Amino acid sequence: MNNDIKAVLYSKEQIDEVARNLGERITKDFEGKNPLVICVLKGAVLFMADIVRQIDTYCELDFMDVSSYGNNTVSSGEVKIIKDLDVSVKGRNVLIVEDIIDTGRTLASLVELLKGRDAASVKICTLLDKPDRRVKTVKPDYVGFEVPNEFVVGYGLDFQGHYRNLPYVGILKPEIYENI
Ligand code: PRP
Ligand code: MN
Ligand code: MG
Repeated sequence: MNNDIKAVLYSKEQIDEVARNLGERITKDFEGKNPLVICVLKGAVLFMADIVRQIDTYCELDFMDVSSYGNNTVSSGEVKIIKDLDVSVKGRNVLIVEDIIDTGRTLASLVELLKGRDAASVKICTLLDKPDRRVKTVKPDYVGFEVPNEFVVGYGLDFQGHYRNLPYVGILKPEIYENI
């Protein structure tokens, strides 16, 4: 599996440091607000586990699985809910945790959905941001790294379901996805 990686972009140590720094900021910003921290399955699971352990104040966790309708959709606010939240977001300060923002379709839809459900505030924390690929306007509040337009996998990010379990973010060798 490691042989399929061209280069390590962000090591576990770099990710840990970023999580500590973001966690400090999040702690200050959400002190006394009892945020609902939402993990967007499946990509965000690893980063979620890191970031919540760096939040040093009361918070609650919930999980949501959504899929965007793909590249040929032009409609906004369209996200298919595979698994919904267990609790209501009405009046809650929400913090969405993501692994990557690419076109922005997933998060643009999700933010719209949660605001429509009367969340008091909706903030975004993402490990990776790939602004070059943006189609929908999404401005994350907490960003780990801005990534170049490369095929990145690991630390939650997959290619056809694989590589999520890599303990780092790496660039996939082109021959792996070109031969499919
Ligand atoms: C990936 C990633 C983000 C989303 C980003 O999830 O984890 O959630 O795509 O892309 P976008 O900004 O273009 O919408 P995916 O839908 O592949 O599901 P997964 O997390 O289960 O891999
Ligand atoms: Mn995802
Ligand atoms: Mg995926």
